[in-house]
Amino acid sequence: MIFEEKTIKLKNGQEAILKSPAVEDAEELLNMVKTACGETDFLVRYPEEWDINVEQERAWIERLNLSESSVAIACYIGGRIAGNCQIDLGIRIKTRHSARVGISILKEYWNLGIGSAMFCELTEIAKSRGIKIIELGVIDGNERAMALYKKNGFCEVCRRPNAFMLKNGEMQTEIYMQKKL
Ligand SMILES: CC(C)(COP(=O)(O)OP(=O)(O)OC[C@H]1O[C@@H](n2cnc3c(N)ncnc32)[C@H](O)[C@@H]1OP(=O)(O)O)[C@@H](O)C(=O)NCCC(=O)NCCS
Repeated sequence: MIFEEKTIKLKNGQEAILKSPAVEDAEELLNMVKTACGETDFLVRYPEEWDINVEQERAWIERLNLSESSVAIACYIGGRIAGNCQIDLGIRIKTRHSARVGISILKEYWNLGIGSAMFCELTEIAKSRGIKIIELGVIDGNERAMALYKKNGFCEVCRRPNAFMLKNGEMQTEIYMQKKL
């Protein structure tokens, strides 16, 4: 699905554009996601695990934009991609009441309200598709993300201890959250 372009105002007064990532921006999107994964331990991959090439990323964007069950929204600031989020709607009879979301924003753009704006749009998409539950996973200790999710009506449902292990051996607990629509 394509998310039509929408201009938003950030907390610092700057304008940003939310829209589906363009196929021509595949290289930039891939670099953005790799950078984001190197800036925090709260994303589930290390940068080197994004071992796909630009052609594969291009094909992924193409598939996503044609998909009936997934939508990606990238945030463009001054033509540069500052972050990206995605919602995947359940497609089977037993899962089509639910959707899962994920989000990553480059560190230099944290705390500007991009995440909040993206969550408003993701929620609207879910509502328009008759979704009853939006779900996500967040790593324990990710206070900024938890603040964003709680503000948007997500509640903790359960915890998965030792879900991830960092290179230094530190274990991370995944917190599973849901929002009822
Ligand atoms: C988590 C993330 C998506 C949030 O997006 P964002 O654009 O920075 O979020 P926003 O600016 O819209 O909102 C952040 C909120 O957290 C609050 N916040 C920031 N740091 C905080 C902290 N340490 N403790 C509690 N609240 C905090 C902010 O005040 C703001 O709340 P407000 O709007 O009520 O003032 C983004 O920072 C990010 O991509 N981080 C790295 C990747 C990641 O963690 N992804 C999520 C994986 S589950």
